[in-house]
Amino acid sequence: MDDSRQVIAPAPALAPGEAEERLALMRQFPTALDLRARARKRMPNFAFEYMDGGAGADGGIKRNWDALDAVELVPRYGKVVAPPPADTMLFGRPYSAPIGIAPIGGPGTAFPGAETYFASAAQAARVPYTLGVLSGITVERAAEIAPDVLWFQLYRFSRNDHKIGLDLTRRAQAVGVHALVLTIDTPARTIRPREVKSGIVNPFKLTMRLRWDAIRSPGWLSSLARNGIPRFVSLNPYMPPNQSLEESAAFIRREQGGAFTWDEVAKYRDVWKGPLILKGVLHPADAERAVAMGVDGLFVTNHGGRQIDALPSSIDALPAIRATVGRKATLILDSGVRSGVDVARAIACGADAAFAGKSFLWSLGALGPKGPAHLINVYTEDLKASLGQLGCATVDELRSVVTRHRNAWTRADFGA
Ligand SMILES: Cc1cc2nc3c(=O)[nH]c(=O)nc-3n(C[C@H](O)[C@H](O)[C@H](O)COP(=O)(O)O)c2cc1C
Repeated sequence: MDDSRQVIAPAPALAPGEAEERLALMRQFPTALDLRARARKRMPNFAFEYMDGGAGADGGIKRNWDALDAVELVPRYGKVVAPPPADTMLFGRPYSAPIGIAPIGGPGTAFPGAETYFASAAQAARVPYTLGVLSGITVERAAEIAPDVLWFQLYRFSRNDHKIGLDLTRRAQAVGVHALVLTIDTPARTIRPREVKSGIVNPFKLTMRLRWDAIRSPGWLSSLARNGIPRFVSLNPYMPPNQSLEESAAFIRREQGGAFTWDEVAKYRDVWKGPLILKGVLHPADAERAVAMGVDGLFVTNHGGRQIDALPSSIDALPAIRATVGRKATLILDSGVRSGVDVARAIACGADAAFAGKSFLWSLGALGPKGPAHLINVYTEDLKASLGQLGCATVDELRSVVTRHRNAWTRADFGA
């Protein structure tokens, strides 16, 4: 892939009838929360609980939503603003909107085949898609489906001096992945009570209880029939052949775990030649250290409230991180994003783009394979409307919108 390209490859023309279908979906499901409500009815309970549940009593999820809702933006009037475009540059690459799909491990449990549907929708819309390493398609296959928009996320596979992690990094480089994301915010395993109570087992198996649960979800079952039980196939070359699901799960438990140390991040910085992103940064001192060692971008995130429900919301941590790194790093916000207005809030508070995780899974649960394209459309149209409402002619102009963000952490709050 040519890294110097500065124009967005044009999105394919709409097929006959597609414009009408888009409009009909917009009327029925104009927001991400409409998709959530429908997903809850249509999905097997275990699949909904796996994707939707947070740590503890979902306190982190609620904090993320409340914190975004609390950010106020002040419009300026007095000039005519043509319908603004939403396109943006991230790491020197053009995208049609500052909106992306965050990495999701085991998304096939929520909706079998999710990775393929995400990759196709992101490629068609020209927005970033971050393939998680724990996915049902390989990084090579994802690069075939989404050559213009693919990012790749790694957890820490540290045995044998990071043999697996570094090999995956080289494979990602070879197929032209645009950005490598190292997730640092999962130092320990966590318990998500809703997931535990739903009856899901690891490795994923359709036990009698889950079968009974799934029987009322024909869309989910037919996607399972098409795509099979999810396996983390990028890891196949490192396992002995013909592993059972149990054996592969045991292999991953053995090989993967903990958070990358700074020395390990430096190792990946040496091997990976493209944009390197750390995912999970909430403290300005960590942001500063990452940038000083050559990291290009940070996901300011609390993992969507899934790891521990005592963390600050990412929107509240964001301004202090931007103040610390200045323009030396690209900042991606995720956790709690449910609308284009939230994307506008994130950018006005210091982000370059906002990504979402759960809502993309809701979209699949609600509408099946058509869901992700519809949700990208919802977010993009809402962002464009927000730009217009606020008097911004471009996404960049959002940076100068006056905000009131009462709960933002200051650098002094962090002791910085
Ligand atoms: C079901 C599920 C699985 C996830 N798996 C991963 C993962 O494998 N790696 C990772 O870095 N983040 C993972 N995340 C976190 C997301 O990348 C993202 O930070 C989070 O979902 C953003 O919050 P939101 O869900 O409120 O949009 C996962 C999130 C969900 C919902």
